[in-house]
Amino acid sequence: MAQGEHSRPRVAVVMGSDSDWPVMKLAVERLEHFGVDCHAQVVSAHRTPDLLAEFSKGAREQGFDCIIAGAGGAAHLPGMLAAFTTVPVLGVPVPSRYLKGEDSLLSIVQMPKGIPVATFAIGEAGAVNAALFAVAMLANGDEELRRRLEAFRREQEQAVHAMTLPPAS
Ligand code: RP5
Repeated sequence: MAQGEHSRPRVAVVMGSDSDWPVMKLAVERLEHFGVDCHAQVVSAHRTPDLLAEFSKGAREQGFDCIIAGAGGAAHLPGMLAAFTTVPVLGVPVPSRYLKGEDSLLSIVQMPKGIPVATFAIGEAGAVNAALFAVAMLANGDEELRRRLEAFRREQEQAVHAMTLPPAS
């Protein structure tokens, strides 16, 4: 890439509130770890519906290969984003105060047929795995990224081999 030229973010990471950031920033960190450019933004399905429609309708033109969307409670964000675009949407259920994210999970995973949202685990694991899944999708057409993903898998494997347990008593 020529000096001064910036690549376009390939992944959008959106969330319903800035209160989702402690979870969703793990997706951004993981993408950055793999050198994948991303764009993070707050878009609320119920408080900024016009922004949601505008963002989602423009997602392909913006060059996003996928959208990672995190939301908590009656989490409409991933499903509504998916309704406005054919760019793949990866949903992250954010833990909620009273139902601990089970409401978020069911709201995101139980999409009626026709508009899919790939749904991940509640909370931190979901945010990290959504990013890793995005990396895996991008790696299909990017050999360097595939090498980095394979190296990451090897590092994880070695970390487990290096685990030792303390005496029981
Ligand atoms: C959802 O409501 C957000 O995704 C967030 O998880 C939850 C609470 O939002 P705040 O009241 O913290 O803004 O829209």
